[in-house]
Amino acid sequence: MKYIAPSVLAADFGNLQSAVEMLNQSEADWIHVDVMDGVFVPNISFGMPVVKAIQQHAQKPLDVHLMIANPDDYLADFQKLGADRITVHYEACPHLHRTVQQIKELGCKAGVAINPHTSVKLLENILVDIDLVLVMSVNPGFGGQSFIDHTYQKLKDLQQLMQETSTSVLVEVDGGVSDQNATQLSNAGVNAFVAGSFVFKSEDPVATIAHLKQAVRV
Ligand code: DX5
Ligand code: ZN
Repeated sequence: MKYIAPSVLAADFGNLQSAVEMLNQSEADWIHVDVMDGVFVPNISFGMPVVKAIQQHAQKPLDVHLMIANPDDYLADFQKLGADRITVHYEACPHLHRTVQQIKELGCKAGVAINPHTSVKLLENILVDIDLVLVMSVNPGFGGQSFIDHTYQKLKDLQQLMQETSTSVLVEVDGGVSDQNATQLSNAGVNAFVAGSFVFKSEDPVATIAHLKQAVRV
């Protein structure tokens, strides 16, 4: 199964309701929500009140990507705000197994994100417990960056690791995704495609989402 997850980080925050309504009308599968704290990443995006506003209009699952330090302190808040899927960063979680268990106890799907420099091999002992791996294809913190090509090698390594460990998780890629790489990523085993700028900076975001959906169909 392939999922398109537009990131509202690239939307016009002055018209957030219409951005979310546009996604409701589109072929988007999930709404990707990027929370940044200015500590784990060098940028601050938005917090609870904005996620609440998104949730009030969203008719699609919220795919919450926490780029924050100490995510354990806020997991219950994000669950209450309607997160279907909560993804935390490997690099931000010294007790990742406990964090993942907490997410699952809250009734959410659990994802683990890895930065470009983090080897997928480090996920060997957590893969069995999680629903999704988010492979960052840019350094987290900002939209509109260029896709890092080494991501393809990591995707290959991840498929191999899943085989070796007899596990199967969804693979999501985030950063610099467009129609230029979506098909190749899909062929490399990616299930979920986060796209911020490519969707929201396009003239017709609904058509762009449909175009991406077509590009990832295998
Ligand atoms: C980056 C965020 C991404 C971002 C992607 O730190 O995690 O989700 O919104 O933006 P684009 O698609 O513009 O690279
Ligand atoms: Zn993201």
